[in-house]
Amino acid sequence: MRYVPRNCIKPSAELAHPILGINGEILLQKGVKMKKSYIRRMEKLGIPGAYIHDALSEGVEVVNSLSSELRARTVREISRCYSQAETGQKAKRDDSAGLFRMAGEIVDELTAQSDMMLNLFDVKVYDSYTFYHCVNVTVLSVVIGLGLGYARQRLVKLAFAALLHDVGKVFISPAIINKPDALTPEEFEEIKQHPRLGYDYLNKWYASGKSAALSPAVLMGIRDHHERMDASGYPSAKPGEKITEFGRIIAVADVYDALISDRPYRKGLFTADAMEYILSGAGSLFDLRIVGIFSRKVAIFPVGTCVMLSNGSIGLVLENFEGLTQRPLLRIIEEGGVNVKPYSLDLSQDALNLTIISTVEM
Ligand SMILES: [Fe+2]
Repeated sequence: MRYVPRNCIKPSAELAHPILGINGEILLQKGVKMKKSYIRRMEKLGIPGAYIHDALSEGVEVVNSLSSELRARTVREISRCYSQAETGQKAKRDDSAGLFRMAGEIVDELTAQSDMMLNLFDVKVYDSYTFYHCVNVTVLSVVIGLGLGYARQRLVKLAFAALLHDVGKVFISPAIINKPDALTPEEFEEIKQHPRLGYDYLNKWYASGKSAALSPAVLMGIRDHHERMDASGYPSAKPGEKITEFGRIIAVADVYDALISDRPYRKGLFTADAMEYILSGAGSLFDLRIVGIFSRKVAIFPVGTCVMLSNGSIGLVLENFEGLTQRPLLRIIEEGGVNVKPYSLDLSQDALNLTIISTVEM
């Protein structure tokens, strides 16, 4: 199987993973043969691509970082918790215990994977939905936390903070949140309040003793997720040494996922370009050590991607190696514009004169 951008999916292609809708419901089941009408529906819903079985990718398995079932359940629970924040001011107690349990399940699923080189395609599939963004940020944050050697309890708190990191956005006018064009300075000032608003809302539950799941580390992580090491962030413009580690981790995960996602005014960046941005901000915007772990753990050319080499050949990524994200194992399928009998080329061992110059949509 491989990831195919929506505009390259052919009718009759077989779906290799289910496609989920905005509330985590299954829209198209695994094994379904695609039709033109399905592809049009994907376009309407802003789903940029899907996993497809085809001859090119025969024998290639892409393991999702999270099971579709857990991802769907978590999306529903985030949606419920965020709308409780929006409307449930009269609620008698904090209602996020269910989400906290899911934070634990996410940590357990990610920890159980022997290969922690993260293939982010399941992250890229549903990029336009806010609640999926929260799940993506959580997966990326937990991967960093594992790289930092966190024990389970700390990982669960980190995951919980990442799931709730943008809850303060429910207190900002939807007209500003969903505005497709550039924000005015006043509107941006309002957006800049969302980490503090989220903190204040959750802190109310924590301080009143009505929450079993919240803790100071979780609250501070949420408040700090837009702070930057050089004090250029918001809402407090804190310098690096004052920013909590949870805040620094969620910052990297949040920016990366935002960059690779489509927005109404721009298409998402390629993963390699988004990683370049994160690397260029190491030490100034982002914590150097966290960026180091992130760049070793996250595959910039995920398994199932087609890439072009510096000699013009095209290959499919078969495997990634931790710390060598520029040099995966490939299945070469095209040379000099002509299809060839597929063969393997391990860029980590051979062909050291060749480099990957871009990803290819096909
Ligand atoms: Fe945010």
